[in-house]
Amino acid sequence: MTKARYIAGPGGKIEGELTVPGDKSISHRALMFGGIAEGDTEITGFLAGEDCLATLRALQSLGVRIERPEPEHVFVHGVGPDGLQPSAAALDMGNAGTAIRLFMGLLAPQRFDSTLIGDESLMRRPMERVAGPLRSMGANIQTRDGKPPVEIRGSTGMRAIDYALPVASAQVKSAILLAGLQAFGRTHVTEPAPSRDHTERMLASFGVEVLREGATVAIEGGQTLRGTDVRVPGDFSSAAFFIVAGCLAAENGLLLHNVGVNPTRTGLLEMLRQMGADIRVHPQPNTDANGEPIADIEVRKSRLRGIKVPESLVPLSIDEFPVFFVAAACAEGETLVRGALELRVKESDRLAAMAQGLTVLGVENQLLADGLWIRGTDRFGGGTIDSHGDHRIAMAFAVASLKARASIEILDVDNVATSFPGFVTLARKAGLQITAS
Ligand code: S3P
Repeated sequence: MTKARYIAGPGGKIEGELTVPGDKSISHRALMFGGIAEGDTEITGFLAGEDCLATLRALQSLGVRIERPEPEHVFVHGVGPDGLQPSAAALDMGNAGTAIRLFMGLLAPQRFDSTLIGDESLMRRPMERVAGPLRSMGANIQTRDGKPPVEIRGSTGMRAIDYALPVASAQVKSAILLAGLQAFGRTHVTEPAPSRDHTERMLASFGVEVLREGATVAIEGGQTLRGTDVRVPGDFSSAAFFIVAGCLAAENGLLLHNVGVNPTRTGLLEMLRQMGADIRVHPQPNTDANGEPIADIEVRKSRLRGIKVPESLVPLSIDEFPVFFVAAACAEGETLVRGALELRVKESDRLAAMAQGLTVLGVENQLLADGLWIRGTDRFGGGTIDSHGDHRIAMAFAVASLKARASIEILDVDNVATSFPGFVTLARKAGLQITAS
């Protein structure tokens, strides 16, 4: 099968008003929590991307009835805490790291066995970071050299754990909390730095008591979730591509509607502001989005200056680095990111993929063990970029075309559909000169 590619023409002007698709992290969780809840859950603004559809299909294979009258409108008929059924086949998580890791926590304490697999990229990603702590709770899980397939033998007698995460990871934290819900006793998870807290916020809206004290989250086993309505805000990580595009080329401003602005996700805003960006956040008051704050974001073309990124902002902007590096490539002076080793184990090695692509465009950069150094320039060249099948690398280089002197060809872009269906249409509407073939 030939893989799709983008051609992004050089230059262009960004403007108008846009609404990006629903949040990926929140959509996964709404499906899973709805599936194990008692009663029904109605999800609006659901992300109809391949990653979340993998979660949806897996839940159906586990016996959960789901209706989807429209792509972004989903009803989940919860089966209750003991209602999941064994799947006849291995559960295929596609490209979705969040799906495989959260399902590990959900399925380890069940009374049946499960096997979790994924696509080529997912089959290379580390799973012991979840399997290890789950084993200390009594789970029986095997990985192959630390990677999928993940073979789970259901263990109904799991015990609570007191676990200090070695790296800030919402996926690991969430997997342990999901197992903790079905374990005996009170599970505590402590983070070295805050990671996204959608699990904690959404569990509370499903009626679960989640205790937070400083860097520790605690949950008592045996609580039952109650179905609820979930309104999914626009994905900040998808808005990020247009926020940077706006900084580069929105003379008259760009307005993004209904974006989730949970503070554990918006580190990019702080980094861009430190670089001199003109970004205004207009919070939407009185919205009930399961404890998730929502805002309209207005951005204008700004003169960006390179910065040294504070390491504390890394977990708060973990998925935004590909497009942040594009902003750095267009800034005056040098930008340095360190403490970002996690970027090497995402859908691709994002440090290496970005360094390679920036080099193709003629942007001076240096790949570091845990980060990237970039010298910005006011105009760079075009060329052919390998996205390594990584959605965010592909979209980041599409944004780079705004400052390129020649076209950028971006290879292997099918996976953009995992997180951002309709990206090309929206990007063209905003002013990018992009076509897919
Ligand atoms: C996610 C957590 C992050 C993030 C991923 C989504 C989540 O991963 O990169 O895209 O939904 O919990 P880590 O937990 O591995 O940092």
